[in-house]
Amino acid sequence: MKIAMACDHGGFHLKEHIKKYLEDKGIEVVDHGTYSEDSVDYPDYAAKLCEDITSGASGAQKGILICGTGIGISISANKVKGIRCAHCADTLEAQLCRQHNNANMMAIGAGFTGPKLAAAMVETFLSTAFEGGRHARRVALMDAIEG
Ligand code: RB5
Repeated sequence: MKIAMACDHGGFHLKEHIKKYLEDKGIEVVDHGTYSEDSVDYPDYAAKLCEDITSGASGAQKGILICGTGIGISISANKVKGIRCAHCADTLEAQLCRQHNNANMMAIGAGFTGPKLAAAMVETFLSTAFEGGRHARRVALMDAIEG
């Protein structure tokens, strides 16, 4: 499995933690930055990750985004056609955004979610399948809004 990640300065340390957590499990991580605590603009990093996921450039089909709240970076990601980014704060949300919404990206707020919980959320997000059925119709309707 390959997973792509990106963050702003507010999410840098949590991104590094999650990256190591995944790599220790043998999961390949495509890291789109940022690579330090130096201040950057989160829409730029959301765009980098979305470009990778929608183009298939790295082969990663799911992405994890992290900023201070998880809000700005998730709003940015959801501007991109083909991206369904769920801002999650617990493992149930991480589970349901896969089962019901077929989310292909999850956003986490580093200022609100600790490293242990974030790792559990990522684990859940990656291991939970889309349920399809009635949810497939709703996801199709959601995607149709993009035109
Ligand atoms: C950056 O200062 C901060 O605004 C960002 O990490 C995020 O919380 C935005 O939604």
